[in-house]
Amino acid sequence: MLFRNALIENAQAPVDIRVENGLFSAIAPNLAPENGEEVIDLGRKLVLPPFIESHVHLDTCLTAGDPVWNMSGTLFEGIECWSKRKDKLSREDIRERVQRCVRLYAANGIQFIRTHVDVTDPKLTAMQALIELREELKDKVEIQIVAFPQEGILSYPNGKKLMEDAVAMGADCVGAIPHFEFTREYSVESLNFALNLAAENDKLVDVHCDEIDDEASRGLETVAARALELGLFDKVTASHTTAMHSYNNAYVLRLMRLLKMSKINFVANPLVNTHLQGRVDTYPKRRGITRVKELTAEGINVSFGHDDIFDPWYPMGNGSLRDVVFMGLHVCQMMGYEEIMNSYRFITTNAARTLHLGERYGIVEGRPANFIVLDAENYYDALNRNSAVLRSVRAGKTIAESKPAETSVLF
Ligand code: FE2
Repeated sequence: MLFRNALIENAQAPVDIRVENGLFSAIAPNLAPENGEEVIDLGRKLVLPPFIESHVHLDTCLTAGDPVWNMSGTLFEGIECWSKRKDKLSREDIRERVQRCVRLYAANGIQFIRTHVDVTDPKLTAMQALIELREELKDKVEIQIVAFPQEGILSYPNGKKLMEDAVAMGADCVGAIPHFEFTREYSVESLNFALNLAAENDKLVDVHCDEIDDEASRGLETVAARALELGLFDKVTASHTTAMHSYNNAYVLRLMRLLKMSKINFVANPLVNTHLQGRVDTYPKRRGITRVKELTAEGINVSFGHDDIFDPWYPMGNGSLRDVVFMGLHVCQMMGYEEIMNSYRFITTNAARTLHLGERYGIVEGRPANFIVLDAENYYDALNRNSAVLRSVRAGKTIAESKPAETSVLF
């Protein structure tokens, strides 16, 4: 199959893309169609590797208002709402919502998802359901599962055992939530436990790290130090790190050296953290997002995630990562021309590094023929106009299509 006239990753000159046996077999200008080959003209549209959701909680998605709405919008009322919803949690309930959510993502060009799954549940119901769905949906989307201890590892009954069980069941990554543990000592011990568990089982790590406006929340330095000492390096990701927003600059200067040595990845969640952080401030209110601009300038890998979609912690979301990037650029003040043009990397190539997709990802000859086509010539325009993802192609097959909306102005 031959896809013609593709503007790959903001290139100015179009190329053609040949797909054979589910792989990119040739990428070059003016490829001649072979006898009987199907040809699709992409009409000089932007082609990108698929979007990647590098941080979401699929087990809570699509539950906003059920049974009660989060009226204050705070993290703590969200936890209260969720505890009421948690009673109804069943395998069928999770399966139905996750499948609906994956279809929303598919419509928006997302083909890879890292989901955190709450394992502070003695029955591990959500973990079991997600492990089944990871296999069932693998032709449509690659799901990576983080064993996520929502209520802590040391601060929840049998927390360590539940983490070990989740890893034995087949979780891809080990999580932790140091800022939620009862004490600073528990926080450090939980991180030592989580990173050791990952090292022993050859798993990735993704920590909910310092998601709080408390500048004394310093799980990040422990995560980075253990990543370095255990040789885990970029297998480790620190998600959120919103406390870093509030750290003093002298401390950040010292910390940055360790972060670079450790080679860990960062995930920021601009929509949800703009919504949830700064809640105990009067004025001025902190933005509560990690230092994306400074981390990026130091060559540290940062990706963006949605975190929550229409659930007790975030009442919006339609499975599109466009708004995540849009908000991220605003709140991090990264609106220079090149910053806008290259911002697709937060939800493509940077996220691929975080998920360790390696040679399974990228528009390169010999790799799986996964790509998306946007209704624009470059990402600046795509972001600004909220352009539709016209086509999502996975292993050479189109798995989702959209037609651009049509509007007539009658004057
Ligand atoms: Fe999260």
